[in-house]
Amino acid sequence: MALKQTNPFKATLGATPPLLVGRSDAIDDFGFALDEGPGAHERISLIIGPRGIGKTVLLNAFEDEALERGWLTLSETATAGFVERLRSDIIQRLSQDRKQLQGLNVSILGVGGGLNWDTQAIAESTYSLRNALKDLLAYKRELDRRALQAPGGVLITLDEMHHQHSQELIEFGATVQHLVREGEDISVVMAGIPSSIRPLLSGKLSGSGDANPVTFLRRANRIELGRVSDSDVREALEEPLRNTATPWEEDALDIAVEACHGYPFMIQLVGQCSFRENARATNTSAAISTDAAQRGVATAQRKLGQLVHEPALSDLSNVDRTFLVHMAQDDGPSKMSDLKARFNQTDSYVGNYRRRLLDAEMIMTTGHGEVDFALPYLRDYLREHAASLIAEGF
Ligand SMILES: Nc1ncnc2c1ncn2[C@@H]1O[C@H](COP(=O)(O)OP(=O)(O)OP(=O)(O)O)[C@@H](O)[C@H]1O
Ligand SMILES: [Mg+2]
Repeated sequence: MALKQTNPFKATLGATPPLLVGRSDAIDDFGFALDEGPGAHERISLIIGPRGIGKTVLLNAFEDEALERGWLTLSETATAGFVERLRSDIIQRLSQDRKQLQGLNVSILGVGGGLNWDTQAIAESTYSLRNALKDLLAYKRELDRRALQAPGGVLITLDEMHHQHSQELIEFGATVQHLVREGEDISVVMAGIPSSIRPLLSGKLSGSGDANPVTFLRRANRIELGRVSDSDVREALEEPLRNTATPWEEDALDIAVEACHGYPFMIQLVGQCSFRENARATNTSAAISTDAAQRGVATAQRKLGQLVHEPALSDLSNVDRTFLVHMAQDDGPSKMSDLKARFNQTDSYVGNYRRRLLDAEMIMTTGHGEVDFALPYLRDYLREHAASLIAEGF
């Protein structure tokens, strides 16, 4: 008898799935850009997409591409203080290999007091992120030269980009722009949800002054992540269990594929929950039955509500949420004329909220004067929670 199979699915935000599907073009293009040298467009990329669509996982895949090519990687979330965290991280790395720095033209030797520097005491005023990155790049070049290997650069990934931290992002953008202009082997990949990123791209930032850093983001290779095809979903569900003691029964797999609606997080939730339901029902491992898949899908939907719908709704204003609750009255796409009547407001008022929700990728247009939900099962979630969403202002 085959060994008991462990559940391969990874229904955790940020966790690399057993099989990453539908993203090979983006990953290949990023790899090409690393190979092509400084200035290649995809070396500065911006990943945008709704929650649970696979932004963090794609950042991780890009990191793997860089590591395979012998690059150094630095990963940060773009929350307050990230520039300083990057700077400290680099100082830390350089300090661990001080001997290698001897004889190199690196400015840290000047500010740090030779080779006995105190990493804590190296102030931003004398040693900026730009200085730190320059030194790290020089250090990396030297390592590669000594090891007689092809030169690799430095990749920085920045997750959870948010316009609230625009000042730091502007500072960071200016630094990277300088390094790119100087022909340095650097790559930066950023990711965030649309409602957090659009204000950065529109340039309507308070106190941004100089428009250049915003240009940096606008020029970045934009990767708009969306759903994957049903055949990719099928592959992502089937492959991890192929040739194991617990494959899918054919009809069960059909149920699971349909329930995902091409949404990556749902693939992992449905896979994980169906596998569990099956294990609960059978003492010995057996193929996943339609019954287990149905129960798995129901559990997956509940978890999706808690992990995705709830936080996505909390990013929105009260009126945005009311708009969505009005939409949930319909069984399919909503007509703008109906929504206007339900709101009892002017065209421009309702049109304004339509635009906001489109920008936030909560809704999409499905035909002339029609909108529908962009996230699977949001309609069901809103119907179930409508009263509390509106009454308590969430
Ligand atoms: N291409 C894919 N194929 C299969 N599973 C995927 C894929 N992309 C993401 N997943 C799975 O979906 C889930 C969500 O992925 P991830 O955390 O990268 O989303 P995200 O866009 O970063 O979400 P958030 O905006 O909440 O940070 C994870 O469980 C991950 O394993
Ligand atoms: Mg993420």
